[in-house]
Amino acid sequence: MAKISTSLSQNKADAIEQYQRLDFQVYEQAAGKARWYFKTLEQLVSDNVTLTILANDFSDWASKQKSEASFADTPIENWSMLQKLQADRDMSAYYRKTVQYLFIRDLGKDLNNRQTNEYIEETVASLVKYSRKSPDKDESLVETNLHSWAQKHGIETTYHWLLLKLSEMRELFHAHDAESEGMRKLVKIIAGVVMHKLVENPNTDSTTLDATIRLGYCYGLTYPFIDDLLDCSPDLNEHDKQLFSQALRESLQTGTVSPLPKLSKTSATIKRIYHELKWAFEYIRDHLSAIQSQQFFKRAYVFFEAQAIDRDRRLSENQSLDLEALFLPVMLKSAGCRLIARDLISSEINTEFEYRTFCFGIYNQFNDDIKDIFDDLAEDNITPYTSYLNAPEQHDVSPYQYYWAVVYYLVHEVYQNDAQTKALFMERCINAHRSLKQKVGEQQYFELRKKLLFTNDKTFDELIDSLVEQPAPSAWFDKLVSQEVAAMFKTKREQQHYFTTTYGSLVGKVENHLHVKPLKRYSSGVLADVSNYALTSGGKRLRSVLAYYLGQQLYGFSDEQCQDMSTMLEYMHTASLIIDDLPSQDNADTRRGKPTVHVKYKSQATAELSSVYLMMRAVEVQAQITSHKAQAVLSSLTYAANTTQLICEGQLEDLQPTSKALTIEQLESTYWLKTGLALEAALVIPALLAEQDEIHISHLKRLAKHIGMAFQIKDDLLDITGDAEQLGKPLDQDADKLTIIEFLGDEQATNRMFEHYYESLKIINDHMPELKAFMRPLLNFIIYRHH
Ligand code: IPE
Ligand code: IPE
Ligand code: MG
Ligand code: MG
Ligand code: MG
Repeated sequence: MAKISTSLSQNKADAIEQYQRLDFQVYEQAAGKARWYFKTLEQLVSDNVTLTILANDFSDWASKQKSEASFADTPIENWSMLQKLQADRDMSAYYRKTVQYLFIRDLGKDLNNRQTNEYIEETVASLVKYSRKSPDKDESLVETNLHSWAQKHGIETTYHWLLLKLSEMRELFHAHDAESEGMRKLVKIIAGVVMHKLVENPNTDSTTLDATIRLGYCYGLTYPFIDDLLDCSPDLNEHDKQLFSQALRESLQTGTVSPLPKLSKTSATIKRIYHELKWAFEYIRDHLSAIQSQQFFKRAYVFFEAQAIDRDRRLSENQSLDLEALFLPVMLKSAGCRLIARDLISSEINTEFEYRTFCFGIYNQFNDDIKDIFDDLAEDNITPYTSYLNAPEQHDVSPYQYYWAVVYYLVHEVYQNDAQTKALFMERCINAHRSLKQKVGEQQYFELRKKLLFTNDKTFDELIDSLVEQPAPSAWFDKLVSQEVAAMFKTKREQQHYFTTTYGSLVGKVENHLHVKPLKRYSSGVLADVSNYALTSGGKRLRSVLAYYLGQQLYGFSDEQCQDMSTMLEYMHTASLIIDDLPSQDNADTRRGKPTVHVKYKSQATAELSSVYLMMRAVEVQAQITSHKAQAVLSSLTYAANTTQLICEGQLEDLQPTSKALTIEQLESTYWLKTGLALEAALVIPALLAEQDEIHISHLKRLAKHIGMAFQIKDDLLDITGDAEQLGKPLDQDADKLTIIEFLGDEQATNRMFEHYYESLKIINDHMPELKAFMRPLLNFIIYRHH
C-alpha cells in the first residue's frame, strides 16, 4: 500500500516537475526572443552611425514641420479648444496622427498597407463626423452614445451586461484611489480587443462581437487590473499576496483554477475577486478553440512571470543587475499585453504582427517610464532608468541610449523607413520629453538630461534639446481623450461622494422624525408600537429622501418645511409594505431584515390594522403641515389620497395579472400604478407644496414613471439573483407572478430597465439640470444596487 502511494505521489511530483520544466521552457523561449532583441539593440548602441542617422531624420522632420502651416497654429490643449477649432476647420490631419499611432501600437499594423490605410481613413472620417455631431462631452452623452452604438451593432444586451459587471468591479475598490486607474485600464483593454476584432473583420456579426466583448472583459480582469485591486485590499498582507499570486500562477500553468488559498484573513472582497477571476478564466478556456486558449494561457503565463519578476525587484535592495537582466522582463511585459489581445480574436498566427508588436512594446514602455521617473524612484520601482540613476557607476551605458536604439530599430528596420510612421515616432518622442519637462519642471528636467537622459553624441542631444524647446504643437487626440476620461472618472467619483454623504445625512434627518407617538386620547394602544416596529431601520428611505432633497434643492425649503412631508411619505410607503407582505398578498416572512409584522405578532389583523393606522397617521401629519400655505397643503392632500387609491388598484392588478396584463404596455401600466406612483408622490408633493405650475409637475410625473419602472424591474431582478440577507426580504417572491422578467426574459428586461434609466437621465438633463449631481448617482444606485 505504502509503496503504491509513494509511487503515485512520485508520479505526481514528476508530472509537476515536468510541467514546471515546460513552463520554464515557455518563459525561456520568450526570454530568448527578448535576449535576441536586446543584443540587436546593444549593437546599435555601439554603432556611431545610429544616432547620426536619427539626427538626420529629426532634422528632416523638423524642417518639414516648420513648412507646414499647421505647426504654428494655436495648440489644442483641451477639449473645448478642439471643439472651437472643429467648427470651421478640417481636423482630419489632427485625428489621423492618433489613429495611425493606435493602429501601429494596439493593432500591430504596418501603415504601408492599402487596406490598413483605408481603415484608418474610415476611422478618421467617423471621428470627424462624430465630434461635430456631439459637441458636448457630457458624461451621460458618452453613455447614451455608446448605447446607440451598441444598439446599432445589435449588442445592447452585451453592453448592459458589461455596465453591470464594471459596476460590480468598481465596488471592489471601495472608493480607493486606485479605482479610476484600474477601471480605466480595464475599459482600455476591452476597447483594444474590440478594435482588433472590428479591424480584422469590419462585418463582425453581433454574436461574435458579443463574445469578443465578454472575452475582452475576462482578459482585462487579469493583470494589471488585479494588481491594482490587490494593492488596495487592506486585508491582504505581503504573504497573502504571494499566496494569491501563486494560485494565479498555478491556474495559468495547469489550465484549471486552483481553489482560493488559505489566507490569514479571507474577506468578502477577496472571495468576490477570486470568484470573478475563476469565472473569467473558465470563460476564456471554454470559449476559445483549444489552440487559441493554449496560446492565450502560454502568453498570459509569460506576461505574468515577467510582471512578477519586475514587481519583486526593489530599487532599495540595490541588486546589481546588468542592463540585459533589467530589460528582459520589461520587454516581455510591455509586448505581452498586446500580443495576448490578438489571441482572443484570431487563431491564426501572424508572424509579422508578432514581430512588430514584440519590438514595439518596449518603445511604449520607455516613453511612459521617462515621464514617471520620479514616481518610480519614490515608489522604489526598478526601471532601467531608476536603476541607472541609483547606481550609474554600475553601468557602462545609459539606458537612454537603448531608447534611441529602439527608435532607430523600429523606424529603419521594423517599419522600413516609412515616412508617415517615422514622423509619428519623431513627434511622439519629442512629446515624451516635453511631458517630462512639464511634469518635473525645467530644473529637474535639465538635471535628468545631465545624469541620465544623454547619449554619447553631443550634437544629437543638442538637437533633441532644441526640438523640445520649440513651441509645443497640439497634444494628440489620444492624450486629450485620456485627460478627459480621467477628468470624467474624477467628476464621477466626486458626484458619488457628494451623493453618498448627502443621502446619508438626509436619511438621518428623515429618521429623526419617524417615531410614531401613542395617541393622546388612547395612549395604551399598541398600534403605535407595531408601526414603529415596521418603520425600523433597514429601509432605504428612498421616497422620503427624494422629497427632502427636491424640497431643499429646487424650492429652497427649510428643514422644517421638509420634515412632515418626508415623514408622511415614509409612513405611506411602510404601510403599503405591511399590506404587501400579508399572506393574502405576497406572503413574505421577512422585511428589512426582520420578521414581517404579521409574522412577528402572529396576527394578520395586527398587520392589517397597523397598516391602516399608519396610513391615517400619514394623512394626519400631512394635514397638520403649517410651514406651507394651507391651500397648497390641501391640494397635496387631495393628490396623496388619490394616488393611494391608484396604488391599491395597482396592487390588485399585480395579484390578478392574467385577467389583464398580456402585453408589456399593460404590465408596465401595473408597475406604474403599484410602484411608479409612490415615487411620483415623492416628487410631486414637494412641488404642490411649493405651488409649482402644471408644466413642471408634468415633467416630474414623467420622470417618476421612468424611475419607478427602472426601480421595480431592478426589484424583480433582485428577487431572482439577489442575496436574501442583503435584501432583508425573501427571494423568489415573484415565482407565481407575471413580472416583466417572466414576460421578457432577464436580458430583455435588463435592457428595458436601462431604457427607463436613459429616459430619466434625459429628462433630468433637459428639464432639471440643477438636480444632475444628485440624481445621476441616485439613478445609478437604483440600477446597480444590491438591496
Ligand atoms: C419595496 O420598496 C417596494 C417596492 C416598490 C419594490 P423599497 O425597496 O424602497 O423598500 P425599503 O423601503 O428600502 O425597505
Ligand atoms: C411592491 O412590490 C409594491 C408596493 C409595496 C406598493 P413588490 O411586492 O415587488 O415589493 P417587495 O419585493 O415585496 O419589496
Ligand atoms: Mg407585491
Ligand atoms: Mg412583495
Ligand atoms: Mg419585489
